[in-house]
Amino acid sequence: MSTLPQTSSGIVIVGAGLAGLFTALKLSPLPVTVISAAPIGKGASSAWAQGGIAAAISEGDTPADHARDTIDAGAGIVDEKIAFLMASEAPGRIKDLLAYGVPFDRDLEGKLAFSREAAHSQSRIVRVKGDMAGRKIMEALIATVRKTPSITMIEGYAAHDLILENGNVVGLKAHNMANAKATSSINPPAWAVVLASGGVGGLYKVTTNPPQACGNGLAIAARAGAIIADAEFIQFHPTGIAGDIDPSPLATEALRGDGALLLNSKGERFMVEVHKDAELAPRDIVARAVFNEIEVGRNAFLDCRKNPGADFRDKFPQVYSYCVEAGINPEVDLIPVVPSAHYHMGGILCDAYGRTTLNGLWACGEVASSGAHGANRLASNSLLEACVFAARIAGDIATTAPYRIQPAARKITPSNSFRRDSSDFEAIQHIRGLMSKHAGVVRNQSGLKTVLREVETLQQRLPEPSQFNNILLAAKIIIVAALERCESRGAHFRSDFPDPELKLAQRSFFTLKQINELSHAHLETS
Ligand code: FUM
Repeated sequence: MSTLPQTSSGIVIVGAGLAGLFTALKLSPLPVTVISAAPIGKGASSAWAQGGIAAAISEGDTPADHARDTIDAGAGIVDEKIAFLMASEAPGRIKDLLAYGVPFDRDLEGKLAFSREAAHSQSRIVRVKGDMAGRKIMEALIATVRKTPSITMIEGYAAHDLILENGNVVGLKAHNMANAKATSSINPPAWAVVLASGGVGGLYKVTTNPPQACGNGLAIAARAGAIIADAEFIQFHPTGIAGDIDPSPLATEALRGDGALLLNSKGERFMVEVHKDAELAPRDIVARAVFNEIEVGRNAFLDCRKNPGADFRDKFPQVYSYCVEAGINPEVDLIPVVPSAHYHMGGILCDAYGRTTLNGLWACGEVASSGAHGANRLASNSLLEACVFAARIAGDIATTAPYRIQPAARKITPSNSFRRDSSDFEAIQHIRGLMSKHAGVVRNQSGLKTVLREVETLQQRLPEPSQFNNILLAAKIIIVAALERCESRGAHFRSDFPDPELKLAQRSFFTLKQINELSHAHLETS
């Protein structure tokens, strides 16, 4: 645990995953403070990413093709300008990562090796040791951060609120994770706050995300008045490894790219009936098919016995170790799989520079909604989006930095205003179960209202700020947005509105005030 600094640099980044650390490095030599709930390198989804990063670098590929695939995957609501911008800047960000020491896989001639994933028209994914991109990228970034004197880390503190003055963000409140009674909260002042606090998978009982990814950033930005976009769109990964391990370990899509098959308990390849691309169909379609097999009691399994077969351990060392931990030998056993909450396409609305609708607040990575992913993110675009926007945010902040108050004048003050109660654990597990059941792969009005009612009831019992309150708020935003979208699009599937509606092919935008009003209206009509 780091010693607390006495002053804030004036630029505070919340989150030490890829988005947060890349922003901090790009801001160097400007002094920045990074606040992270978990020790650096832990608690961030980025480190668990098994796919790689998509970038149009290979011969014959173009950013325009990459953008087109991104737009096609996004089911009609990708912001095309953002998709083109992201694809165009991808090669530059890969160069940055190489300069930070990321050991991307290379071919026999020493050139970068590219692999292909579902819904990409070209081989354009750079990986590390098969399935270890996230871990190796984070190791390289952490090593660089440790050598960068402009970056001050405050580990073990979780942000729970923004401080506003005349509508501008001027700091934040963070509590000590090691202290359940929260007697050691801090209020670092800031003229620039970058939320890079990750996604919402932890709101679900079945997720591939670390528990820290439970919508905290979404909740604190919404409470401060920021607009939230596309909150209903949660991507469920079709092949979380089923069992008792929480979070559920991921069995990367690349296994299916390598020839692994999806079978049910009758030994049938159920994807063949569902889509022409069978196991390599778009992620939302595979997730729903797996969900369906489980619902009707046939269960779903990944068959890797033939492909990758005996090469499994070498080609997919991370998944192999997860299988061993779960008592499975993937060279001879089938791997039981379950759709798992994996990635939030929605988040805090931001523009091409990561600026949110609140002055002084930027958002980066999964907590942000830039419009790049639409209703269904293309594989291996998430780490890319984090890098592209981190660089843009750093550039934007750096241009105004010379006109801001010097760091020495900005004291970090202690505060006692936050409650963190370990007795919330049971209630959190209860909500996670309801979210997976009613706001998961398949939703409908009645189920969404069931979980909404529970969230409202619990919120009324918890009037004061708390970690659990932020969880409930994030859940409510997702549920209400899902109730409002009366169609099925991409990862959002409503069994009561199973088709897409042309007139609804647009992004959604809500303030917290609207969410609260809509929530009451929905529950009044139950
Ligand atoms: O299956 C995977 O490796 C996931 C990749 C991604 O989420 O981009």
